[in-house]
Amino acid sequence: MTKAVSDDKKTFVAALAEALENETFIKLTLGKFRAEGEPRKAVATLVLLKEVPHLKLVTTFARKDETKTFSFNDGINHLKSEIGADYLSATLFSTERDMTLTYSKKREPHLTKGKPTLKAAAPAAHDRAKSYLVAPDRPYLKALQVSDKDGRVKPSMQGKYRQICRFIEIIDTLLKEDDRARPDSALSIVDIGSGKGYLTFALYDHLTTTLARTCKMTGIEMRGDLVDFCNALARELGFSGLRFDAAEAQQASAKQVDIVIALHACDTATDDAMALGIHSDAKMILVAPCCQHELAPQIKDAAEGLAGLIKYPLFKQRQADLVTDAARALLLEASGYKVKVIEFVSTEHTSRNILIAATKSANANREKAREQYRALKAATGFETQHLASQLKDVE
Ligand SMILES: C[S@@+](CC[C@H](N)C(=O)[O-])C[C@H]1O[C@@H](n2cnc3c(N)ncnc32)[C@H](O)[C@@H]1O
Repeated sequence: MTKAVSDDKKTFVAALAEALENETFIKLTLGKFRAEGEPRKAVATLVLLKEVPHLKLVTTFARKDETKTFSFNDGINHLKSEIGADYLSATLFSTERDMTLTYSKKREPHLTKGKPTLKAAAPAAHDRAKSYLVAPDRPYLKALQVSDKDGRVKPSMQGKYRQICRFIEIIDTLLKEDDRARPDSALSIVDIGSGKGYLTFALYDHLTTTLARTCKMTGIEMRGDLVDFCNALARELGFSGLRFDAAEAQQASAKQVDIVIALHACDTATDDAMALGIHSDAKMILVAPCCQHELAPQIKDAAEGLAGLIKYPLFKQRQADLVTDAARALLLEASGYKVKVIEFVSTEHTSRNILIAATKSANANREKAREQYRALKAATGFETQHLASQLKDVE
């Protein structure tokens, strides 16, 4: 009997894990509460927290509901501990089938499977409106293999999809804050280090399709194969205002540009993007830095007490990343921008999770930022910084 119990429960829990992984999960109900305490029943459904699907378990008592939210792994473990112990009945509803595991008074299991009785529902979300900013069935997401032909995000591309959603959510908010006066104006945008174009296509699609704005957008990318791929895809999708140029970030020039973005463009390409934005008087500059190599070899224990922070190579690199990005933020302020530093995607998914968002502002305290930049430079001992060397009056 022990083996049978174990096998049926294993099958049920495996089906739950599979349904969550394949995104066929609809809900799971728990009944026949037989433990001590107030009678209750429970239902688990999906909920989005910061774009990440979680399990929400609502336990219903006679006079109240109690809600707990779990990551998928924690949720599976929690349900596993309750099924067959506190609750003698559990039913899993997925788009593929229903599966019920019940236990007799003697705790003998009985597993039944049947056709699906429920249709899939979108996960209820604390921030559902935001998640809908990027519908997973957009044609560019299918073409870039983020979603499958039925418009469902592929399991292996969930992280990329979340990054796209978060980026669009951030820029959408910034545009609303910044652009209230002229929401109908045409936008000119340059994306430095556009790569395969995930975020470039997402932003172009959001602006032109969702917000119905006129937009000219250029992706700058040094890899010719990616540029050819992206140009072909832009043509195929009918994105007539979007083109990609094969060039080094440093060569990029623009007479008039509203927004410059550089998302995980490597090392000092981020500085080149910021310099382009500053020199062309862009009203918005958004960069997600990565591979900050320039300052680490230059940082010294110039300030008393810093030695402990840079003694160990890993800490030194992290410290250098922070110093690099803080210096960049200060240089943007010194150039007349208001700066926000935002978490791009949760650290659970990548350590490259900082987005520096700068909007042109007459109220930026340029002199104070210049002083803070110089103080940071003196305290950490670096001599040259790629953005600073392209700006006047900051050293
Ligand atoms: C990590 S990928 C990011 C791609 C894209 N921005 C995204 O977030 O999906 C970085 C891209 O920047 C390009 N890149 C790096 N340094 C560059 C430079 N100096 N000039 C132009 N492109 C550069 C690389 O070839 C690569 O495709």
